[in-house]
Amino acid sequence: MRPWDELSRRPSADGPADRATLEEIREAGIDLDPVPPGHHRHGDEVHASDHAHPHVHSAPDEPPVVGIVGAGAVGTALGVALARAGWPVGAVASRDAARRERFRSLVPGVRGFAEAAALLDEVELIILAVPDDVIPALAGSLRLYSGQAMIHTSGALGAEVLEPAMAAGTQVGAFHPLVAFADTELAVAALRGATVAIEGDDQLADLLARMAEAIGAQPVRLAPGTKAAYHAAAVLAAGGFVALLDAIAELGRVAGLDEAGSLAIYGRLAEQTLANARALGIARALTGPMTRGDVGTLRRHLDTLRRHAPGVLPLYEAAAEREIALAEGRGVLAPEAARAMRRSLARPD
Ligand SMILES: NC(=O)c1ccc[n+]([C@@H]2O[C@H](COP(=O)([O-])OP(=O)(O)OC[C@H]3O[C@@H](n4cnc5c(N)ncnc54)[C@H](OP(=O)(O)O)[C@@H]3O)[C@@H](O)[C@H]2O)c1
Repeated sequence: MRPWDELSRRPSADGPADRATLEEIREAGIDLDPVPPGHHRHGDEVHASDHAHPHVHSAPDEPPVVGIVGAGAVGTALGVALARAGWPVGAVASRDAARRERFRSLVPGVRGFAEAAALLDEVELIILAVPDDVIPALAGSLRLYSGQAMIHTSGALGAEVLEPAMAAGTQVGAFHPLVAFADTELAVAALRGATVAIEGDDQLADLLARMAEAIGAQPVRLAPGTKAAYHAAAVLAAGGFVALLDAIAELGRVAGLDEAGSLAIYGRLAEQTLANARALGIARALTGPMTRGDVGTLRRHLDTLRRHAPGVLPLYEAAAEREIALAEGRGVLAPEAARAMRRSLARPD
């Protein structure tokens, strides 16, 4: 390692005086630790300049050597799942020594680094498992070698945020498992049967699909530009459904039910509805007053919500709008009945 590499790596402990000296040495063009002509250096090692990058190459038809940046919830669970599936996990980068060591105890044989850049020489497929807000800047600070690929695990960001790390002959993509990562072992188990959304060009997408299947998951390939919609749907299916359950429980309380009572009664109805949607399709699973044009019932609901559960009103109204459109589209609600129902929603009095 060159002395200025060492100095520039140390964050705050170095005084300004060290950095000033370093700058002076650089400006004077002095190489404190020269490399022979025709050679270059990685870390402490000197190599002939014609050797190929990255250092690590898997055999043809073998899975690539994986490096994981971020030993958090997702990075650790993916590392464990991939290693158990026989995919070579070569290195992990985490700034936190305890998390790094935990990862290494769970994935034997892996090399640990404090910095993401140091991991690049060790692996072929780099997984950035860091917070969404960190991904673009981190990608911008890294430069892939020809033959390498980088992916992230975010559900909210597209693969294009990794483009700043690209060089000739490199690929970027994304690998988003639809799993709530809390406990490592539970998450590894939950990956079996989970859906993984994949982005990348054809070659990388094929590789990522194989990686998903290796850990027991089901890959789905997303078209460019559709990631946010895919993720918003996932948020509605999870958080949105919980919000709906919360509103249902609030109305249940008005009717004298506690939360367990509401879950028992309306949960069963929700399960039946999901089963109907799976068997018949979403539109045909719709039942209730909106399919019948029952304006009197709709008015009674709006009236009781306004008086007893006003916080639930916007959700009920938004759902009713959508139900009316579904019923109309299915041909069971005449246009005049649909108009009458929409008038009730717009003019509740
Ligand atoms: N949690 C979930 O259920 C879930 C599900 C699907 C997808 N995801 C996605 O997976 C990604 C990771 O989420 P997570 O839940 O695993 O997060 P996490 O548990 O908070 O772990 C994040 C990791 O990134 C490292 N990190 C944080 N800031 C960094 C920085 N500035 N530079 C370098 N590394 C940094 C962390 O610190 P150290 O370097 O100190 O170790 C940690 O190892 C996110 O994109 C998230 O959207 C999460």
